[in-house]
Amino acid sequence: MKTRILMVCLGNICRSPLAEGILKSKINPQEIVVDSAGTSDYHVDDCPDPRSVSIAKENNLDITSQRGRQFSVEDFDSFDKIYVMDMANYRDVISKARNEKDRNKVSLILNEIFPGENVEVPDPYHGGADGFKRVYQMLNEACEVIAKKHQ
Ligand code: 4NP
Repeated sequence: MKTRILMVCLGNICRSPLAEGILKSKINPQEIVVDSAGTSDYHVDDCPDPRSVSIAKENNLDITSQRGRQFSVEDFDSFDKIYVMDMANYRDVISKARNEKDRNKVSLILNEIFPGENVEVPDPYHGGADGFKRVYQMLNEACEVIAKKHQ
């Protein structure tokens, strides 16, 4: 059975598309399925933010084929692990959980590199390119750890 991993942020256009693209580049797609979603419906069917596309491209990743979609309760059945970017995402996803099994699937992604510290991936939407670079670096480190876990 393949392991199924879902990356979640608010809009599904800045952070989680990067997390999806980065993790996909580090794993064997025969063994792991990676997808992303947003807690909001603000950007359903939208392309990733051009600033995420740009920082991905600088790192030889193409995320342009991704499209925004909203997280739904069925995602608890479709995925084994759900990584969220910040505490607001965590609360929104947990509020849809039906039971302890669902709740146990949800973690802040940076807890993979800073266990138990609940460090957030900052929302870069209202900032400049620097914020996207920093987000990329954080997600790259976290995805390295996640990929190693599944080797
Ligand atoms: P994301 O960033 O959650 O990393 O995709 C955002 C994208 C859009 C909005 C907020 C955050 N928005 O308010 O439209």
